Amino acid sequence: MMGDVDGGQEPVKIVLHMHAPEGTVQLAQMFSDILRCGDVVSLEGDLGAGKTFFTRAVARALGTRDTVTSPTFVLQKIYDLHCERADAPQRLAHYDTYRLMDYGEMVDFGFEEMTADSVSFVEWGDRFLGDYPGVVLRVCFEIIDRDSRKITLLLPPDRAEEFADAGRHNHKHCH
Ligand SMILES: Nc1ncnc2c1ncn2[C@@H]1O[C@H](COP(=O)(O)OP(=O)(O)OP(=O)(O)O)[C@@H](O)[C@H]1O
Ligand SMILES: [Mg+2]
Repeated sequence: MMGDVDGGQEPVKIVLHMHAPEGTVQLAQMFSDILRCGDVVSLEGDLGAGKTFFTRAVARALGTRDTVTSPTFVLQKIYDLHCERADAPQRLAHYDTYRLMDYGEMVDFGFEEMTADSVSFVEWGDRFLGDYPGVVLRVCFEIIDRDSRKITLLLPPDRAEEFADAGRHNHKHCH
């Protein structure tokens, strides 16, 4: 068989080294430019790697007036966004799968109903990869030392291209 009949595309891998938290904030701003309603962002990496930090920076870049805190104990938090970009999501839903047994528990508290006008950020998102509806963008954090992180993005090819453009043009939609 030749080609890929269902059109499924291999994700493009982008590896970045951030030597300070400020670098990760800049990355989050670029990343916020490629987000669309319905996207699921899978945040992966050890305790303290930067999953919540990154989510907070993205929510700020998309104009939230709230402070993003860890969803570890509440499982779901929803933030209103205020971004002028026409196709920008209006809400960011933040999840932590750490204490969940299976993906069904996420569905039970409304995960799949959130996706129409929002983006979903899922800490420990790799636990349920394959179950999510919509486009999945993976952000994987590795701790190098106190202030340094290796961050690997796994993006569908069209989003990888948009991400490269966001870097070139340094859009300023809402940040
Ligand atoms: N380059 C960097 N990028 C991101 N965070 C950094 C960086 N350098 C240091 N940090 C710090 O690492 C910490 C990351 O904590 P954070 O709560 O985001 O981790 P987490 O991955 O969500 O952990 P948990 O699994 O416990 O929820 C923050 O205190 C942040 O300031
Ligand atoms: Mg966290």
